[in-house]
Amino acid sequence: MNNHQGNQERFSLHGQWSSRMTFILAVTGSAIGLGNIWKFPYIAGDNGGGAFVLIYLICIFVIGFPIMVSEIMIGRKGRRNPITSMKILGLEEQGSENWKWVGLIGLMAGFIILSYYSVIAGWTLHYFKMSLLGELSNLNSESVQTIFGELTGSAITQLMYHTAFMAITVAIIAKGIKDGLERAVKLMMPGLLFILIVLLFYSILQGDFMAGVNFLLMPDFTKITSQSVLAAMGQAFFTLSLGMGCIVMYGAYLPKNESIIGTTTTIIFCDTIIALLAGLVIFPIVFQFGLKPTDGPGLIFLTLPLAFNEITGGYIFSGLFFILLAFAAITSALSLLEPSVAWMIENKNYSRGKSALIIGVLIWLLGFLSIFSFNILSGFTFWKGTLFDNFDYLASNILLPLSGLLFTIFASWIMKKENSIEELSDVSRRVYKLWRFGARYIAPIGVILVFLNAIGII
Ligand code: PFF
Repeated sequence: MNNHQGNQERFSLHGQWSSRMTFILAVTGSAIGLGNIWKFPYIAGDNGGGAFVLIYLICIFVIGFPIMVSEIMIGRKGRRNPITSMKILGLEEQGSENWKWVGLIGLMAGFIILSYYSVIAGWTLHYFKMSLLGELSNLNSESVQTIFGELTGSAITQLMYHTAFMAITVAIIAKGIKDGLERAVKLMMPGLLFILIVLLFYSILQGDFMAGVNFLLMPDFTKITSQSVLAAMGQAFFTLSLGMGCIVMYGAYLPKNESIIGTTTTIIFCDTIIALLAGLVIFPIVFQFGLKPTDGPGLIFLTLPLAFNEITGGYIFSGLFFILLAFAAITSALSLLEPSVAWMIENKNYSRGKSALIIGVLIWLLGFLSIFSFNILSGFTFWKGTLFDNFDYLASNILLPLSGLLFTIFASWIMKKENSIEELSDVSRRVYKLWRFGARYIAPIGVILVFLNAIGII
């Protein structure tokens, strides 16, 4: 591979997106996932609602935006998996191979995230099946706990769904960019939006809508602690799929003439709207039925079945809700798997199918540890809690911000100015300068301050 191709364009070995729209759909599909619908509401609930949401929005715009632009830029310039792209660009820009480690941190984070992401996605499949079979009826607050407890208590049931979810993800990735990824997102993303809108009407009509709106949008700053600021930033990284190379990877398939800033704006807008909509679906229902917003990771699995169950025809809505979650999870899981698979194809010369299978099996095996942390290993706790808690904390709050920080430093400090200008040539000087300022100063300082604050130094 020629490392000194200068400004000549490299081409991806795996093809390109067939249109700007499919790129936007794929990245939005990556961004919108369990993070928006499962994680955002419970973290917002745990951290007091409105004030958290405000900090989260600030993190999205001042930290997330410049970093996403940086990652797409690196991907499109490198045209390889994140490790190789960083290696090639590091050599071109600075004569150093060491930047590849940043790509590696990202890939590791993706590996870890997908291992537990698939377990939670498996829960949604289980709840979908139960809704369809009418098993989520005649519930009360004890029986929802029992159903959830039975699921998390059973390693076998979770294993089954985890296996099914990973199999779907591997099968789609094995088919490649156009036949696999593009087709999946074209089908699932519009479906997801449709279902969410139906559920929003349901929540407006059946829920305590104003209580939900107040909770989400009225800030109560007394609830804010340094930990909740870290949680908001971690969530901003997680929800935008930043810091793990998946945006770098998808950027590698982006044609040269597409606008990076334009697509990023659309993607961030869609992701934020969906997270807020998910909150507006969930909290009105939570309040209507006197449930608590602070139920943690179980929030949607405990509260929603109970609420839907109170209303005739509710099982249809709960079925819709859980299939919505499964769709959202699949399009995100694809982006978590693709970078490692592309790495294997490019470096080991294996076929796409074989690479997807090997990486998929490794991630599937790692997922066992998360499954066991809800049952046989639930007593095994250290640092942030169970193995599952630690995986999530390590990946979302440490690895993602760390590699996101380094990606943005690379794009704005190390990459020659003329190269980044070339990548962002469609926007005005002023917008370019704004990005560069955000990527050089605001995002790095923001990430570092939040870290120092969280570990108690400032
Ligand atoms: N953004 C996804 C979500 O919000 O569920 C999760 C995710 C996907 C995180 C891809 C990181 C990633 F690279």
